Amino acid sequence: MEFAQHLSDHRVSEQERTKILQNPGFGNFFTDHTAVIDWSADAGWHNARVEPYGPISLDPAASVLHYGQEVFEGLKAYRHEDGSVRTFRPGKNGERINASARRLALPELPVEHFVEAVRQLVAVDQDWVPSGDGEALYLRPFMIATEAFLGVRPAREVSFRVIASPAGNYFGGELHAVPIWLSQNFARAGHGGTGEAKCGGNYAASLAAQMEAEAHGCPQVLFLDPTDDFSVEELGGMNVFFVLEGGTLVTPRLNGNILHGITRDSVLQLAREMDLTVEERKFTLDEWREAVANGTLKEAFACGTAAVITPIAELRSAEGTMVLPETTSDSVWGSIRAKLLGVQRGTVEDTHGWLTRLV
Ligand code: PLP
Ligand code: COI
Repeated sequence: MEFAQHLSDHRVSEQERTKILQNPGFGNFFTDHTAVIDWSADAGWHNARVEPYGPISLDPAASVLHYGQEVFEGLKAYRHEDGSVRTFRPGKNGERINASARRLALPELPVEHFVEAVRQLVAVDQDWVPSGDGEALYLRPFMIATEAFLGVRPAREVSFRVIASPAGNYFGGELHAVPIWLSQNFARAGHGGTGEAKCGGNYAASLAAQMEAEAHGCPQVLFLDPTDDFSVEELGGMNVFFVLEGGTLVTPRLNGNILHGITRDSVLQLAREMDLTVEERKFTLDEWREAVANGTLKEAFACGTAAVITPIAELRSAEGTMVLPETTSDSVWGSIRAKLLGVQRGTVEDTHGWLTRLV
C-alpha cells in the first residue's frame, strides 16, 4: 500500500518540541502528522496518506458519534542508542485491533498495512521520539465509523488513523508504587460483552469507577467479576499480576472479559524463562486478602504499554485499605521490568524477535 505524503508547513518549532520533550507527561502533546487510511464497503481500504495533524471533519450523523463504533490500540516507539527507532511487537497490536474490529463490526485492516501506517508516521515525526529513560513515543492507532446514518447497523464508511504523543511515566514523576481503588459499584465488562475488545465504550464505562478512585486518591481502579466469586479481572487500563511466596507469578486467566495485554503476554514469557512458576488462573479477592493476611503475597503489579510495569502499594475500598508489602530492590517486578524495558530500549538482547525497526 502506497502512502501519499502531504507534509505540514506549520510544524512545531524545534525549540518548542525540545521543551515539550523535557517533560512530556502522558498524552498531552501530539506530533506534526497523522497517518490515515479510509475504508468503504465498496472500495475497501484506500487513500492511504500521511497528512498534517489537526481536527477531523465529521458529519454530525457519523455513527461513531452516536453508537460508539470505534476501536483503538496503543504501542510505543523507542529511541535506541544508535539513533534508530524501534517498536515492540506491532504485529500483535495489528492482530488485536482486528479482533476488536470483528467484535465491533468494523472492517479488518491487513496487519502489514497497520504496521506500515505506524512506520510512515514515525518516519516523518522521528524527531519527536524521546530518548530519556522510561520515555517513548506513544502511538495511538484507531478506527472510527464515519458514515452519516442514524440506523443501527455497521457503518459502510470507516477511517483508520494513527496519531503519536511523546510519553513519560503514565503515573507522573518518577516510578513509584501506586494505590488502587477496588470498584464494588461498577463492573467493567460482562460475559459476552466487549471486555476483550479495545473499544472506546469500555473506557467510557470505566470512568464513573475511575472518578471514585480519584476521589480516594487512587490513579487506577480494579475491576472484579461479580458473577465469578469476585475474581480479579484487570485495572481500567492495565493487566494485573501477583507474586506469591516461593516465586509463583499469578495473573487472572483470559476469561473473555479482560484485554489480552501484549505486556501481559511478554511478562509471562520472560517469567517462564526466569524459571518462575507461572499460573494463569482465577484469583479471587478473598484469596488476595488471605495471602496478604498470612504473608504469602509478596508483590502485586500492574502492566501495560502505558504503565510498563508499576508496583501496587495498596488496595483501597469502601471497607478500608489493604496495605501490600513494600517491595525490595531484588523484587520480581523490578527484574522483569528491567528485562522488558531493556529489550524495548535495545540494551538487552532481543532473543524473541520482538522489535521492529521503524527508522
Ligand atoms: N487492560 C486494559 C483495559 C488496557 O487498556 C490495556 C492497555 O492497552 C492493557 C490491559 C494492557 O495491554 P497492553 O499490554 O497490550 O498495552
Ligand atoms: C495502553 O496502555 O496503551 C492503553 O491504552 C491504556 C490507557 C490507559 C492509556
